[in-house]
Amino acid sequence: MYPGITISDIARHEDQEVTLAGWLYNMRSSKTLHFLQLRDGSGIIQCVVYKPEAAEEVWNLCSGLTQESAIRVTGKVRKEPRSSIGYEIAVSKVELVHQAVDYPITPKEHGVAFLMENRHLWLRSRRQHIILRVRAAIIKAIRDYFDNNGFTLVDCPILTPNACEGTTTLFETDYFGEPAYLSQSGQLYNEATAMAFGKTYCFGPTFRAEKSKTRRHLMEFWMVEPEVAWMDLDGDMDLAEDFLVYVVGRVLEKHEKELAELERDVSFLKNVKKPFPRISYTDAVKQLQSLGSDIQWGSDFGGDDETILTRQYDRPIMVHRYPAAVKAFYMKKDPSNPDLALCVDVLAPEGYGEIVGGGQREDNYGVLEASIQHHGLPLEAFKWFLDLRRYGSVPHAGFGLGVERTVAWICGLQHVRETIPFPRMLEKIWP
Ligand code: 4AD
Ligand code: MG
Repeated sequence: MYPGITISDIARHEDQEVTLAGWLYNMRSSKTLHFLQLRDGSGIIQCVVYKPEAAEEVWNLCSGLTQESAIRVTGKVRKEPRSSIGYEIAVSKVELVHQAVDYPITPKEHGVAFLMENRHLWLRSRRQHIILRVRAAIIKAIRDYFDNNGFTLVDCPILTPNACEGTTTLFETDYFGEPAYLSQSGQLYNEATAMAFGKTYCFGPTFRAEKSKTRRHLMEFWMVEPEVAWMDLDGDMDLAEDFLVYVVGRVLEKHEKELAELERDVSFLKNVKKPFPRISYTDAVKQLQSLGSDIQWGSDFGGDDETILTRQYDRPIMVHRYPAAVKAFYMKKDPSNPDLALCVDVLAPEGYGEIVGGGQREDNYGVLEASIQHHGLPLEAFKWFLDLRRYGSVPHAGFGLGVERTVAWICGLQHVRETIPFPRMLEKIWP
């Protein structure tokens, strides 16, 4: 058994009799008509049962159908200009495969907490369905960009012996009596693979035990991370810019209709063109202060600072050279001012905040070793990483793009929880 004809493919079957297998999304009836909204995962189509022409058992079966019951519908495909897909089905036969009883998500409005508890069912709703389809398209565009530009996909481990992004957000597990951590980032391994393949990327789930309950944080999120040998910070910014222009362009090209259904104002997305403003952290702080923020040089931006700053621009901005003290141990210091790290964050417009973090890596053995110690990290765990600075060390750089924040931005969503099928949030791991 295989589904066969799908709703997304219905135009090819105009005037033919087809059988569609799906679920009853919604139904409206009058004395002589049943309008069944059938969804099959690829789309939704209206199926019309006309009493004077229908067999009695078909009419009666439909009269008792409930929301989300599984059915097979046979009928003729006819043009219907008033329908969003341009066709409907003139039903001749309906087969009930499974009757759903009391489906909890009814067409009325529900609160988010209730919907989140029923996430396994909520995925069937039109809006959630569109968001996750756009997510899949974004991921495809991300992969195509790197695959088409000479990058080799080299996956990184998820169980790791060492911390990449600080020790306060580690998920620890027991690895045969030794502590191991769920990966916060594939970067350290990427640095090894970049020395083997030149241009690499990894793409996988990453984990942070973030004690913050915000609309931008998940405990488990997907990150794509390119890493390139012989690339400096400027090259890294060029790459991030080129990559984002491509990804947004691809989504607009193929999914503008879906974004419109999400009521996304795409004018900001259409501005995602080169060049993105490049602003040093120091200038950004001055700008924020002039806009009324009480931020002082030396502290990291809070979500509010990012929002105020990005609202001044019509496209993503690249903030570079943050104070080294607020950034990770592996960042290379700016030779012209060692208080600064050669790093960059890309901040999305309209208050979406940081979607990319990256920069140039420290490539000097002694400096990196001192930095590991300075951050209180166990030198032993980084022995292999230091080897990369022992055997043919070269300048290199890369970044990480958070998929969920990118989906939230492109779809215009308030919260990242709707951008991933089953979000893992603070103290909430169900369903
Ligand atoms: O800025 P971050 O922490 O950078 C790194 O992990 C680097 N090692 C990446 C690299 O250079 N290869 O994280 C990168 C991006 C952020 O900009 C954000 O989009 C996303 O990952 N991110 C999160 N997304 C959702 N929930 C969280 N808790 C996130 N933490 C980071
Ligand atoms: Mg960051």
